[in-house]
Amino acid sequence: MFSQGLSLDQAPPISVPFRFFLTAPIFGVLIGLVFLFFPYELIENRYSHIAIGTVHLFTLGMLSMIIFGAMQQMMPVLAGAVIKKPVLFANVVHLGLTLGTLLFSASFIFEMKFLLHAAVTCLGISFLTFFVISIKLLMQVKYLTSTVNAMRLFAIAGLFTALLGFVIVLGHIQDDIGPYHYAWTNAHIVFGLFGFGVLLVMGVAFQVIPMFYVAKAFPKAVENRLPLFIFALLFVISGLFFLGADIYFIKLIIAFLFIIFSAYGIDSLNNRRRPVFDVTLWFWKLSLYMFIISMLNWLFVPQDSSFLLGILFAFGFLYSLLQGMVYKIIPFLAWFHLNSKGYFTVPTMRDMIKEDLIKIHFFMYVSSLFFFLITPFISEIFIYIGAGLFIVSNVMFLINCIIAARKYSAIAKTDPMDMSAFNTPAS
Ligand code: HEM
Repeated sequence: MFSQGLSLDQAPPISVPFRFFLTAPIFGVLIGLVFLFFPYELIENRYSHIAIGTVHLFTLGMLSMIIFGAMQQMMPVLAGAVIKKPVLFANVVHLGLTLGTLLFSASFIFEMKFLLHAAVTCLGISFLTFFVISIKLLMQVKYLTSTVNAMRLFAIAGLFTALLGFVIVLGHIQDDIGPYHYAWTNAHIVFGLFGFGVLLVMGVAFQVIPMFYVAKAFPKAVENRLPLFIFALLFVISGLFFLGADIYFIKLIIAFLFIIFSAYGIDSLNNRRRPVFDVTLWFWKLSLYMFIISMLNWLFVPQDSSFLLGILFAFGFLYSLLQGMVYKIIPFLAWFHLNSKGYFTVPTMRDMIKEDLIKIHFFMYVSSLFFFLITPFISEIFIYIGAGLFIVSNVMFLINCIIAARKYSAIAKTDPMDMSAFNTPAS
């Protein structure tokens, strides 16, 4: 069970995950601004400095930000791995990641190389603190579930991603793009996106889909073997990058495994045991369908530009799922903390954030995706419409999270026996 045996002392204060969740959409707004103000030819060219800076506004500012925030809550809750000084830990990781991402992306987008040293220092502090401590705690866990196993692999892949990132950053600092630069970069990309990104999503899905959506669990073979197999394939494909060998066969296997995972996830969500409507399902289903489409695109469509694949994978798959996950985690946290403090009646998800607001956010988000996706086929003009909608959708995401946070703190300030605050609007 999600909260089995967990006391309030073990869980970090609610401000710990909240600060990460509230920071991520701000980086989303920054990406929208880059799309509005920089030429499309540079954004869609994966080798341009603008593309590298923008990619990391997403991978560090949004993906890592939400994952780090969620992990600090999930490790004690799902794995019993308790961080000793949660607030200090969160301060170091959050500050390092926020500053490091801003400096790193600014140094590439505005070609201010002198910022790279400070960026790497901040990112180094944040990533090493997070991964060294997480790996240590996860390795000590006695009761191993498929989620704990996936988390362990995710954490090791994350550490590798950062280390590979530091190797390639050195090439940029020293202006020395050696013969293996793109082998290191490709290894960094697969460890980052498939290891750090997908393995975490798998670990979360194995637990969250059956539990939060009262749906059937993934088959045991998928839960137990798939993450390990994918993790091993990351080393194989990276080796092939260095040998300059053909990777198509490994690509086929990886894409096939990801599609199997998505198909099981979609099947489970479509055949829930208690089919109550829940708006976060839209985010999950969109994400899993986009995952399949992005894999088919990766396999069968020659990539002149990585813009389409990037949008399908990063926003369509990863960010959709992360937003759905945050909308599920926030009410759970509020419930958990209020319950542990002795409040007998605690808000449901619908009390915390109005469902209509989440629906409007979803429609804005899907519309932005639509305009991004038609841009390469029709006209560059559409990237501006997409960017505008993307900014609005991120602002809505931020506002919805703030509403929930304020509602929580309004209730938490009252006497647990006094129910009147429960009905007071947050604002
Ligand atoms: C410590 C953190 C990180 C550092 C220092 C770093 C550094 C870098 C650098 C210098 C490049 C440019 C490679 C080139 O010369 O083309 C790069 C590319 C890339 N990185 Fe990272 N990275 C970090 C974290 C991540 C994470 C966590 C992810 C994914 C989850 C990621 C995904 C990518 C991707 C997709 C590219 C390719 C960008 C493109 O093609 O335009 N990085 N990284």
